[in-house]
Amino acid sequence: MSTVFWLQLLRVIHVYSAILLVGSIVFNTAILNPALKRIPPAHSTVVSQKIGGGLFVVGTTAILLLGLSGFARLWLMGQLPSLLTADFVTGPYGRWITLMITSWFFLFITGGLSGYWYKAVLTKKMPYSAGLRDMEEMRAAQERVTLWQDRFYYWNVVAAVLAALGGAMAKF
Ligand code: HEM
Repeated sequence: MSTVFWLQLLRVIHVYSAILLVGSIVFNTAILNPALKRIPPAHSTVVSQKIGGGLFVVGTTAILLLGLSGFARLWLMGQLPSLLTADFVTGPYGRWITLMITSWFFLFITGGLSGYWYKAVLTKKMPYSAGLRDMEEMRAAQERVTLWQDRFYYWNVVAAVLAALGGAMAKF
């Protein structure tokens, strides 16, 4: 298989992963969350748990495939060794790749944190022996996390749009 074949296959994987990631982030922030805030809390908790799990799988798969296909392309194009040099980062091509990598890394961190919070706080089951004080602490923790999640949703949209801009502008 030629290098051209692998570059084209990685490009197809990269573009579809970008569509999945940017699409699910915009859907989550602009459509799902505003809708969840307009339905009763008991319903929105169930709906967000059902949809949240699926979005987490799609987001994680897309972000891993974007990183793998992106770095593999840079490696195949012989650009990986110069990735962290000032000439590359400030150059007419490298500046857009750097924008993609920085946005991708930001989304990797916020995605990882959201996944951890989802498991450790938002969907954590209280033991039967839990008292009122435990319930209060749990509710306060869930409120804190939801506040940070709301902030992340808007930052994620900015990072996703910037990454897609970097991809559209990066022409070797
Ligand atoms: C959220 C993350 C990212 C998004 C939304 C994104 C999006 C895109 C898009 C739309 C393109 C243009 C289509 C194409 O030629 O494939 C592209 C190209 C590219 N991306 Fe990304 N990308 C992301 C992350 C990355 C990462 C982490 C790397 C790793 C180094 C990377 C490396 C590349 C490369 C090398 C190209 C080809 C540029 C060229 O034509 O020479 N991307 N990306």
